[in-house]
Amino acid sequence: MGRLTRDERIVVALLPWGGTELRDLPWRRTRHPWAVLVSEVMLQQTSVARVMPKYAPFMQSFPSPAALAATPLGDALQLWQGLGYPRRCRNLRDAASVIVRDHAGEVPATLEGLLALPGVGQYTARAVLAFAHGEDAAVVDTNVSRVLSRLDNSSMSARELQVRADALVPRGLAWEWNQVIMDLGARVCTARNPSCEACPVASSCRWHAASRDGAVDPAPASAGASRPQARFEGSDRQARGRAMKALASGCRPEADVIAAMGLDQDTTRARRLVDDLVREGLAARDGGVLRLP
Ligand code: ADE
Repeated sequence: MGRLTRDERIVVALLPWGGTELRDLPWRRTRHPWAVLVSEVMLQQTSVARVMPKYAPFMQSFPSPAALAATPLGDALQLWQGLGYPRRCRNLRDAASVIVRDHAGEVPATLEGLLALPGVGQYTARAVLAFAHGEDAAVVDTNVSRVLSRLDNSSMSARELQVRADALVPRGLAWEWNQVIMDLGARVCTARNPSCEACPVASSCRWHAASRDGAVDPAPASAGASRPQARFEGSDRQARGRAMKALASGCRPEADVIAAMGLDQDTTRARRLVDDLVREGLAARDGGVLRLP
C-alpha cells in the first residue's frame, strides 16, 4: 500500500472508532427506507433522547407510507406529541400521500424523487440514500458541518461543505461513514468543550493544531448551520406546543386551549397562534371547540 492521502488517513482513523463507539439506536438497526425517512424527519430538530421513546410507537402505528397516508392527521399528531415542530408530522403525512400516489407506496431511491417530497431537504434526502439505499451520499447536518470545518480549519458555505463531505465518503461505506462522523460531532467534536484528547482524527485536524499553537477561534463558522435555537421560555413555539398538547388530550373549548397556552396577559397573541395552527392544518375548529384535525 502506498502512502495515504490526508483524506484517506482521516477515513482510516475514524471508521474503526465507529466500530466500537457508535451508539446503538433503533433506527440504526434498520435499512428500511420508510423507517429511515421517519427517523430522520424526527431527528431534524429534536434530540436523540427525545426521539427515542416516540420512534417505535410511531413506526408500529404507521409501518408504511400507505398506513400513514390512510390515517387522519390528528392520529399521527397524537403520536408526534412531545417531539415539537408538528408541521414536520403534517409534511411527513403529505409525503406519504405523494409516495402512495406517485411511487406505488415505495420511498423514492433518487435524490430528485426524495427532494420532491414535502419536508424533505438536502440533508434528509441524502440520509435516506446513504442509510437505506447504501448509496455513496454524504449527509451534512450541524454536527458534520462542525467536524468538517474544524478538520480543515476553514469556514465553508453550505455548498462547499457538501462538496467536502462528498469527497470524504469511502466507496460502499456511506452508511458507516455518515453515522460515524455524525456521532463524532455529537459526542467528541462538540460545539463547546470538544474532547480533542479522545478524538481519533485529532492528528489530522487543522483546527486542533491551530488551537495548540494558541489560536483562540473556538470553531470556524460553518455555513450558519449552528445558529443557536431561539429562546424557548415565553416563545410562540412554547405556546403552540402547549396548545398542541391540550388538543392531544381531547377536544377543547377554544377558551380552555387559550388558557393552557400560558399567555393570560396576551390573549390577542394566543388567538393569533391558534388561528395559525388552524390555518396550517394542525388544528380544526368546530364552532367554539378546537380539536386535532
Ligand atoms: N441525527 C440525525 N440522524 C441521526 C442518526 N441517524 N443517528 C443519530 N443522530 C442523528
